[in-house]
This record gives sequence, structure tokens and C-alpha cells, in this order.
Amino acid sequence: MRRVTGGAAITALGGLLFGYDTGVVSGALLFLKPEFGGLSNFQLELVTSLLLLGAIGGALIAGRLADRIGRKPSILITATVFVLGVLLAAFTPSYAVLLIARLVIGLAVGSSSMVVPLYIGEIAPPRFRGGLVSLNQLAITLGILVSYLVDYGLASSGNWRLMFGLAAAPAVLLFGGILTQKESPYWLIERGRDGEARSVLARLRPSGEVDQEVSEIRSVISQGRAGLRELLSRAVKPALLVGVAMAVFQQVTGINTVIYYAPSLLHDAGLGNSSALLANVGIGAVNVLMTIVAIRLLDRTGRRPLLIGGSTGMAIGMIAAALAFIGGTHLTGGRAVLAIAALVVYTGSFAIGLGPVFWLMISEIYPQRVRGTAMSVASMANWGANFLVTISFLTMLSAIGGTGVFALFAFLTLMAIWFFIRKVPETKGRSLQAIEAELRGSQLPDRPGGPPGQQPPGEMPQGPVGHAA
Ligand code: BGC
Repeated sequence: MRRVTGGAAITALGGLLFGYDTGVVSGALLFLKPEFGGLSNFQLELVTSLLLLGAIGGALIAGRLADRIGRKPSILITATVFVLGVLLAAFTPSYAVLLIARLVIGLAVGSSSMVVPLYIGEIAPPRFRGGLVSLNQLAITLGILVSYLVDYGLASSGNWRLMFGLAAAPAVLLFGGILTQKESPYWLIERGRDGEARSVLARLRPSGEVDQEVSEIRSVISQGRAGLRELLSRAVKPALLVGVAMAVFQQVTGINTVIYYAPSLLHDAGLGNSSALLANVGIGAVNVLMTIVAIRLLDRTGRRPLLIGGSTGMAIGMIAAALAFIGGTHLTGGRAVLAIAALVVYTGSFAIGLGPVFWLMISEIYPQRVRGTAMSVASMANWGANFLVTISFLTMLSAIGGTGVFALFAFLTLMAIWFFIRKVPETKGRSLQAIEAELRGSQLPDRPGGPPGQQPPGEMPQGPVGHAA
């Protein structure tokens, strides 16, 4: 188990880079403006959002690459692209080159966002898979928090090059760390390399479980490899829709308007620069802490209760934020306190549910033959929706005001809850093979690591898995 946890923690450095690189720009923007001779708002938005566009591309390429050349080489390439992109940003001679650098970093962020949970999901034993895959989300939130602290710490010197450049260190660690790890047993067996898979599993599992796992994986794989068309087949389409819908709901319920813009919002609301940044660090810390709580609970209470309970908290937070902004964006006294409390409740509730559960679910619900590609599609939908929300938030804010925007997010969160209750299956404690077998309508007993008895009765059949059967 120590080896699995170690491997998951090393791989999760990819998540740290995802969080750091998406978070760091909020502070760096302040200093880019004067550096390049007064950039327009649109030019600043471009620096922020080109990373998200790059991430759509990265998620697209990484899925195919991970299926074709393996998970480990894909992570090595991702780490290399991270290093190149980050150094290009840190040493950029011009604004135009900085834009290219952000696009390159985006490629790595998008790739990492899918290949990290993919790999961890495949080396983890079912019993601990929820917590282990969600180490990635923990790393994302830690990356965001560290980037806020770095921005805050370097604010007086205005050293935006260092803000960008510091990300090279975890990228190099990721590269070196992954070299010490083994290829995913799933991928090896799929390539007919059973001997290697067996020796990888022998390192990761108690000896009694290796044979059974190998034969389970082989039986799932023997059903053949699938092309893109399989994604739309009767067996896979319901799971594909669940992944894509969760991806879109994760973004259109507003998380990154808080993660990227909270300091600006609070500043406009009347807080001084440093109080706004401090409140931001507070929000980042709550994000980390609640993710830790989620990791402890995911494999005990299951995914659905956290997802549905957390989303309810998000809706409450957004309604409170909408109320705080009635009467204008300038907040004083009680309304300022209400706004900050609302953002904290909202972010904490995201962190305990929809944040980790989305990335976890998409590593669990797809059949092996299409897992890489299907995870790519869900990740691309996530980055695409993120891009649209991020690029339109400030415009929406000036058009319909804080109350309008937050009420809209609250409404979308209620729709998300309705969807989760109806369509999202419980996957706690089940082997990936068992989830897949159920998806195809055939039976495969769960391994000792994941007794089906832990399954709340009747939950899977309500979800897409049951529909597909
Ligand atoms: C989301 C990111 C978000 C982060 C916040 C992730 O699950 O995909 O878009 O910035 O959580 O913690």
C-alpha cells in the first residue's frame, strides 16, 4: 500500500502544477500591465484564458497518447512540456511570447488533468481508490493556495517572472518521480504484456490478489479495443453523458469566478488590496481543508452523498452571495461579511463534493477500452466550459450585476443537483472491472477489496450503468 500511495502522491504533482499555473496568474496580472506598456483588459484576459484553450488541446492529445504509448511516457512528456512552458513564460522577451508560453503551459495542464487521475485510478486498489485519486484534487487546491501565497509574498517586489518560473521545480520533481514508477497494469495487459503487469501488481497488491486481478482485467480487455465510435455506443453513451454533464456543471456553477476573481470582486466591493488578498488566502485554505475532509470520507460515505450534500451547500452559498450584492457592488458592514462568508461556504462545499468527485468519477465509470479517450472528452468539456465562464464573467457582472450573476449560478447549481440525484451512480468500493461489467449488463464479482455489500442497494441501477444494461 505504501508503494501505491507513494506513486499516487508523485503523480499528483501534476495536480499541483495544474492548480499553481491556473492560480498564479491572478496576482501576476497586476504587474504585467505596466511591464508591457499598459495592456488592455482584453490583453490581460488573453493571458488568463489562453491557458484554458491550451488545456482543451492538451486533454484531447493526452487521451490518445495515454492509450497509444502508455500512461508513464505520457506523464513524462507532460512534465517536459510543463518545464518548457514555465521557463518560456519566466524568460519571455515580449507579450506575444508570453501568450505562446501560456498556451504551452495549458497543453500540459490539460494533459495532466486527465492523465493523473487515469493513472492513479488504475494502480489503486478499489477500497482506497476514492481517496487516492482525489489526492490529485488535493494537489490542485494546494497548488492554488501556494500560488496565492507566492503572489502575496512577491507582490512588493513585483517579480512576476519568478511567480511563473517557480512552477519549474515541481515539474522537474514530477519528471524525476515518475521515472521511478511502473507502467499501469491495465495498459500493460492490454498490450499483451501480462508478465510485466503481474510484476507491477505484485509490488502493489497482497500476493493473494494478483492472479484474480490479472484475470479480471484480461477478461474485460478481451472484449476488444474500441474506436471513437464506441463512445457513442449504447453501452458507453450514458456514462459519456454523465461525465460531460458533470464536467460542464463543475464549471458553470461558478467555481473559477471565485478562484480567479475573488480578490477583484472583494476589492471592488471596497476591501483594501491586502485585505482582499488575505480573504483570498482564506478561501484557498478552506478549499484545501475541505478537500482533505472529502478524501477521508469518499471511500466511507460514498461519492453520491458528498456530491449531493456538497452541491446543496454550494447553492446556499450562491444564494447568500446574491443577497449580499442586492443594492450594488459596493459592500459595507454586514453585507461585506455576508459576501465573504457566502464565498467561503460555497468554496468549501465545492471542495467536499463536486471538486473531487468529478475527477474521480471520470476515472471510474468508463470501460477500459475507451477510458483514455472518454476521460479526454470529459476533461475537454470541463476546460471548454471553464474557458467560456472565465471569459464572460466580468462582462456578465457589469451587465446583470453581482445579484444577477450569483442567482444564475445558484439556479444552475439546483439543476446540477437534480441531475446528480437522477443520473450519477455510486462507485464506492467497486472494482473498475465490476463497474464496467455492470455497464455492459454482465456480472463480475467484486474482489475482496471492494465488497458489493458496501453498495447502497439500488443505487447503481438508477444511474447510467443501469440504463446501459
Ligand atoms: C476544477 C478547477 C478548479 C479547482 C478549484 C477543480 O476540480 O476542475 O477548475 O479551479 O477544482 O479547487
